[in-house]
Amino acid sequence: APQELRYDGQTVVVTGAGGGLGRAYATFFGSRGANVVVNDLGGSFKGEGANSKAADIVVEEIRSKGGKAVANYDSVENGEAIIKTAIDNFGRIDVLINNAGILRDISFKNMKDQDWDLIQQVHVKGAFKCARAAWPYFRKQKYGRLISTASAAGLFGSFGQCNYSAAKLALVGFTETLAKEGLKYNILCNTIAPIAASRMTATVMPPDVLENLKPDWVVPLVAVLTHKSNTETGALYEAGGGHVARLRWERSKGAVLKPDETLTPGAIIGKWNEVTSFKDADHPDGPGNAMELLEAATQQPPNNPGENLDFKDKVVLI
Ligand code: NAI
Repeated sequence: APQELRYDGQTVVVTGAGGGLGRAYATFFGSRGANVVVNDLGGSFKGEGANSKAADIVVEEIRSKGGKAVANYDSVENGEAIIKTAIDNFGRIDVLINNAGILRDISFKNMKDQDWDLIQQVHVKGAFKCARAAWPYFRKQKYGRLISTASAAGLFGSFGQCNYSAAKLALVGFTETLAKEGLKYNILCNTIAPIAASRMTATVMPPDVLENLKPDWVVPLVAVLTHKSNTETGALYEAGGGHVARLRWERSKGAVLKPDETLTPGAIIGKWNEVTSFKDADHPDGPGNAMELLEAATQQPPNNPGENLDFKDKVVLI
């Protein structure tokens, strides 16, 4: 018979679990033996107000099916209180899913300080505060699983979302560093960029599209990454509508220029194809071989100045 991935005896904290994706994660973990902390501030999708109802309903849902769950109503900006709820009720924390989020979409031209600040506070500072509060427990028990939630808006940019894009990409770098610092303590940290129907996406996508983007279809990836059998860390995944994929950085082979007085703007123009071609690209996952490249550069012959071919008369640019 097939076996379920189980989380018995583990405590899972899901932030923003009162609705959308967070609710889907929380009810899943509740159905697979975990103790679940259902955190939700219960405000509007723009980050206004607060209400205990959102978290309470999900806790009730988990308990009614025989699962174990408690509510927490703090903002993720107050991460210590959320982790304290886990420790006070269940004595431990094993998994942290940084999921809570809000939107304050507005064109860059019209963006106010408050639209910017509130988004950074909730997404970036919130994830930091929750992770920092969980970290000593993860280290001490030499076990932890952490998920951060990025977004396509952060990876690729999205009209009207420069505040949100900045915050979401920040979480990628944040999580990559935690993955490196956590590795020797068996704290595995990954980032997901989900797509799912929620009150958040209801403001930006048509109903027929949302029909095919169930939050439940993002859950299995999160389940795999947070399970004790997982060994992946420091990676970024997309999940939505049944598609699951991994994303990574790509670096062109690039040009190596001699670092002397011949390293002029024109020398770069002369090697522009090498700078920008992704033929023979690689996929760095650390600061890498910078010293090697510097050394190789000093061995190069002097640079040739570039020729700007757009000009009728040949102009050599230096
Ligand atoms: P949602 O609005 O349904 O859920 C977010 C939950 O977070 C809400 O229940 C809200 O009350 C809670 N929350 C907001 N601020 C909070 C705070 N300061 N403290 C605690 N809880 C707070 O939205 P959805 O779509 O489920 O989003 C979940 C995460 O996924 C967010 O981080 C979002 O940015 C991200 N995301 C979602 C996408 C999607 O297609 N739904 C796309 C890309 C990213």
